[in-house]
Amino acid sequence: MLRRLLALVLVTGPLLPALRAADPPWLARGRNGMVASDSPEASQIGAEMLRAGGNAFDAAIATSLALAVSRPQSTGLGGGGFMLAWLASEKRALVLDFREVAPAGATRERYDGLAAEAGEGPSPTIYGGNAVGVPGQLAGLDQIRKRFATRPLSDLVRPAIQLAESGFAVDEPYRDAVKEALADFEKWPRLKQDYAHIHATLLGGGTPPGVGEKIARPQLARALRLLAEQGVDAFYRGPIGEAAVRAARDAGGVLTMEDLAKYRPREREPLRATINGYEVVTMPPPSSGGVCIIETLNILREMAMDFDGGLRAIRDDFYPPMLVCALKHAFADRARWLGDPDFAAVPVERLVSRDYARQLADRFCPEGSAEYGTAPAPEDRGTSHFCVVDRDGNVVALTETINGVFGSLVTAEPYGIILNNQMDDFAAEPGRPNLYGLIQGEANAVAPDKRPLSSMSPTIVFQAGRPVLALGASGGPRIITSVLQVMLNVTEFGMPLDDAQAAVRIHHQWLPDEVYFDREPPAALVRALDPRNKLSSQRKTGIVQAIQLLPDGSLVGASDPRKGGRPAGW
Ligand code: DON
Repeated sequence: MLRRLLALVLVTGPLLPALRAADPPWLARGRNGMVASDSPEASQIGAEMLRAGGNAFDAAIATSLALAVSRPQSTGLGGGGFMLAWLASEKRALVLDFREVAPAGATRERYDGLAAEAGEGPSPTIYGGNAVGVPGQLAGLDQIRKRFATRPLSDLVRPAIQLAESGFAVDEPYRDAVKEALADFEKWPRLKQDYAHIHATLLGGGTPPGVGEKIARPQLARALRLLAEQGVDAFYRGPIGEAAVRAARDAGGVLTMEDLAKYRPREREPLRATINGYEVVTMPPPSSGGVCIIETLNILREMAMDFDGGLRAIRDDFYPPMLVCALKHAFADRARWLGDPDFAAVPVERLVSRDYARQLADRFCPEGSAEYGTAPAPEDRGTSHFCVVDRDGNVVALTETINGVFGSLVTAEPYGIILNNQMDDFAAEPGRPNLYGLIQGEANAVAPDKRPLSSMSPTIVFQAGRPVLALGASGGPRIITSVLQVMLNVTEFGMPLDDAQAAVRIHHQWLPDEVYFDREPPAALVRALDPRNKLSSQRKTGIVQAIQLLPDGSLVGASDPRKGGRPAGW
């Protein structure tokens, strides 16, 4: 009863009309098309492609290739990703998975002893050849182009070649990434010798480049020109791939040309859930993103049942502690059950079912980490997200990654391609925390040709069959919690997109058993949380890019202010 009364009082808060100031610079409006990425140059290049008559897929490919130039700390031709797209003419959503796979030589036995061998040195699944998974990026872009785009590859590559030749402009987030990488070079001076190329070129020879300075990438321009001439075979069967294999093997890895030649992207069925009149369409395994988002939404919905007005009515008091509990359940299940569905029996249906959410909601927030999640046993900062909407209503939500900042540091020369360290997304040794502190289970153990479990969550939200919001994020496991909260801020709490982006964010990933915030949390939020929670002093969150499709047909793009991106509208 008391809860219901409180709910009545609180419901008036979020519904009061807010006075709107001018749009912030990281917001753009358009009628004919929109690209929201975490790089101003890449968004511009994508929007130009739309203006020149390309569709959302042409623009997505041009944006992605530009990001490979201007966000080398996050993404590139040596990485992989996921695309969720809405094909307006067919009224169909589809997922393309071009995630890296483990090389054939990456056996469990090989990875079991690696960390112990490295001792106090850098983790072998973070830096070096053993960190490198078989890149899927170019195979993915190629399939997108062949199936959905309208322009020849040479047209789509041209702007990225120009950017690589003229140089991308250093901004604050790039400088921060360089500083982060250089801190590791100081800690382990051998890195400077082993990764001299990246140190001399992208890391300023040890001195972070100044904001506004331009960094040209002539080696990468050469690779892009070869791509324009020869297609992606230049990578999977040609000289660029040979350079990647050589670099990975010289750095102690097992990548081969056979691994490259047999790489194939996979089309997958998106996951769907209907929540309060919205249909959420999102990423299935081998991402944990969609499962965790839907499981959390379902638990929240069950927990909010008691309140008139649902979550909206309890946004400021009961929603934060409920969110923390729901996330703990979902991330506990992530750790126990999720992995590449081609290799592990992943109980997706159970995890996203209402019935299961009801059981977890009834347990609310138990003591002890072991009490969270657990479906019944089945039978047996290197990322970049962008969204594109074109004037025909096609929607692309695409997250791509090299995993850690500047990936494995291994660079395929003379092509300037930084190879991913996606092998660290496996539970290389089940029980040992990875780069993002995630502790993961058997389902995500290393095996040849297997895809490492991801958190990338490209998502499109529909209302009455019409797409209303496209979004996704970078930030490891924080991707899941950031996408979830920005989506709820818009769909449930009715916030304008910029407020939804800028609002304070909470993160919990089950273990470590701590609540994280993106900034100093307001006192009222801390008061609302269960006092038993340990509050982390780390201030981190995901970086969300989103496009909202408004009922009047106009578009609002928002690049997360936390990484310096700018959307570009048309
Ligand atoms: O696939 C994943 O979940 C990770 N490789 C993503 C890493 C990431 O988002 C780093 N971000 N800034």
